[in-house]
Amino acid sequence: MNKAWWQDAVIYQCYIRSFYDANGDGIGDFRGLIDKLQHFIDLGVDAVWVSPHYKSPMDDNGYDVSDYYQVSDDYGTLEDVKEFIARAHQHNIKVIFDLVLNHTSDEHPWFQAACDPNHPEHERYHDYYIWQPPKYDADGNRIKPTKWLSWFGGGVWDYNEPTDEYYLHIFSKKMPDLNWRNEAMKNDLKAVTKWLIDLGVDGFRVDASNHLEKNWDFPDAYPGYEHFSSLPKHHEYLEEFGRELFRPNNVMTMGEAGGASKEEAEKYVGYDHDEFNMLIQFGHCWQDCDWTNQITTGKWAKGDLNVVGIKESFAHFHDMLKGIGHNLIYWHNHDQPRVVSHYGNDQEYWKKSALMLLYTLYFMPGTAIVYQGEEIGMINVDYTDLSDFRDVEVFTEYDNFRSRGASHEYAMQALRDRSRDNARSPFQWSSEPYAGFSTTIPWMNVVGSYPTINLAAQQTDPTSIFNQYKTVFSMRKKRGISDGTLTFIELDHPDHYCYTNKVQEGTILVIANFRNKETLITLDMELDGYEELLSNCQQSLQPNMILQPYDAIVYFKKE
Ligand code: NOJ
Repeated sequence: MNKAWWQDAVIYQCYIRSFYDANGDGIGDFRGLIDKLQHFIDLGVDAVWVSPHYKSPMDDNGYDVSDYYQVSDDYGTLEDVKEFIARAHQHNIKVIFDLVLNHTSDEHPWFQAACDPNHPEHERYHDYYIWQPPKYDADGNRIKPTKWLSWFGGGVWDYNEPTDEYYLHIFSKKMPDLNWRNEAMKNDLKAVTKWLIDLGVDGFRVDASNHLEKNWDFPDAYPGYEHFSSLPKHHEYLEEFGRELFRPNNVMTMGEAGGASKEEAEKYVGYDHDEFNMLIQFGHCWQDCDWTNQITTGKWAKGDLNVVGIKESFAHFHDMLKGIGHNLIYWHNHDQPRVVSHYGNDQEYWKKSALMLLYTLYFMPGTAIVYQGEEIGMINVDYTDLSDFRDVEVFTEYDNFRSRGASHEYAMQALRDRSRDNARSPFQWSSEPYAGFSTTIPWMNVVGSYPTINLAAQQTDPTSIFNQYKTVFSMRKKRGISDGTLTFIELDHPDHYCYTNKVQEGTILVIANFRNKETLITLDMELDGYEELLSNCQQSLQPNMILQPYDAIVYFKKE
């Protein structure tokens, strides 16, 4: 089988709103992408995935689409989009768009018609969304159809008075879920998809892809995620899109879907299946939650880092997909904190731990996604005021914290540690005002670290994080990293992260200490013939090595 372009690609995830503001309004835009194309070229990435660019009231930064056929005024014009695609293609860089099919904005004309019984097209569009009649309690008070909990913290139902019904939204209340059982709706989304393909995009990242189907019996449950996640029928919908649109038009797809079993993963990305080419899963993303926390749960409760959990997740997806489908690796996206703050150390060992994270991730097999700012070691936000935050999810969670008795300081620290805004602060281009991102106050404050952590400072330093990302990316293709076979060494060791990746011409050996303390590594294997490729420390390879905090080394042995 001929190799597809994406099989050994490095994909750059570009959060357009915070990438580069070319027109001086404080918001990143397509002209900014064009002006900074050289950054993608310099870094050596093969593709750029642009976060949603559609017309939107921006309740969820564009994941709430009000018109799929228009570009948000914040980001530019359709001409800018076309120019960006053409320019990227001139440099052999592919363009990937974010395809949001699970929901629209409540400001989408479909939903406006659906809500209003007097709208001339009400009949047609009402059924594009998911409705339930109210329930009533013993006192005759109107209550929600179920207690299902939305991903953003509140309930999933909101009331629409004109029709006396509740509509379903598994994200914010401004993001009503679409009814995938409605053929006309599906056909309209197919037309959208085809239109985007005809614009010249090379691929899609399919948002929230495992939520398309719901349990239409609407049983009561709390939080009830199983009633709107990974239900069997969503595969039928995806398969239909793959068969009719993705495959025939040769567009690459990466589907966002957590928690897939082997059987499911094969349906999504199996070489013989039509749904996607690759799966974006989250197994490694929140391996530091405190499940015993009394105030909050899940990702909001920060606990100890579970290094074994991270390794197990990568091993699991590698092993599960080996031979049946192509794997994908990444540290984080726009929904998680900055990886160097989250899994590394953004203080004393900022650079060293960023390099450790670079070596540990990018020598593993699979197509790689690098998230904007990761390549210069950007760190979490330092905001001290609630009004500094922007994410819709933050405000619900802040209220949740306070209502459960947490102090303001406690809640603010949780937001600085865990919120999605951490990954969304403006890119730090230089030490100029506003980090060189804009000439005016940005839509979201720049992080105070920018005078020292910025691209300009790193471009000239051959040992910088940025320059080492470049080196590693160029090595990935040369050494066939993406196609190799991953084996962890002492997978159940709680502190180190060591593995071999058997590639065509030899073996990569990565040895790393994930902790801020000395760690002993015992290598019960033949060590002759390994040469050092990269290192962030002074170590020589031997059967017993005492690694200092965040020490990491990459070796290669030719066969
Ligand atoms: C997943 C996206 O990554 C996230 O940012 C967004 O809020 C939800 N899907 C809803 O579209």
